Amino acid sequence: MAVTREPGDRTDAAPDETVQLLMRIRRYNPELRADPWWDEFTVDVEPTDRILDALHEVKWHHDGTLALRRSCAHGICGSDAMLINGVNRLACKVLVKDVMPKVTVEPIRGLTPLKDLIVDMEPFFAGYRSVLPFLINDEGEPDRERKQSPEERERYDDTTKCILCAACTTSCPIFWGDEEYVGPAAIVNAHRFIFDSRDRADRERLKVLSEKTGVFRCRTTFNCTEACPRGIKVTRAIQDVKRAILFDRY
Ligand code: SF4
Ligand code: F3S
Ligand code: FES
Repeated sequence: MAVTREPGDRTDAAPDETVQLLMRIRRYNPELRADPWWDEFTVDVEPTDRILDALHEVKWHHDGTLALRRSCAHGICGSDAMLINGVNRLACKVLVKDVMPKVTVEPIRGLTPLKDLIVDMEPFFAGYRSVLPFLINDEGEPDRERKQSPEERERYDDTTKCILCAACTTSCPIFWGDEEYVGPAAIVNAHRFIFDSRDRADRERLKVLSEKTGVFRCRTTFNCTEACPRGIKVTRAIQDVKRAILFDRY
């Protein structure tokens, strides 16, 4: 028989036991109110559910007006980054049992909220586009694939893992104060091509990143590395790019 627990009860419930999670969610709807507000919901979930499941429970059974982005539900698409108990996380990767008995959910910081947990991602993607995040090689079509040694591939392996969730950029205090800063995610994606032996546009990207909106805005605070759900060593990638500008290639 299913056992229901109240918010505040013990957190060692069995995986399939129904528990009650208190959710405090930051709401915003400019058509209703000028300022954001907080709503609270108590939802029935299982300890192994994710916060995304709990948000669905709110949206599907308590308040259908709750607005959030999500797609894959498996940590791949990067669309559900949000502040969960004050830390940038993917809602589909945080388990209910790890936050019981209550959780606070807010939109990521530094980007303009549009509605509830949805923010305007355009400044984030503008930074991404500015670093030319695609392979550029004007040496003509090769007869076969462009070969690369394991060592050459290893040089940028870490930065291929980015899913563009924005958890890094929106945890960066420099970005909070200045949306013009391209931000760590754009630098990670520039790194992925700058250090690719098949690419020929490293100087162009390093020029963009040497401008006043580029890498030297970074003050090495490491928030970005701590926030990355893919475990990318973001600050190390930024340091690689700084060094390339200062000593190596530009
Ligand atoms: Fe997200 Fe990590 Fe990519 Fe930043 S570097 S956008 S935190 S996956
Ligand atoms: Fe910001 Fe990361 Fe640099 S948090 S200051 S980009 S190390
Ligand atoms: Fe795709 Fe969470 S919904 S990463």
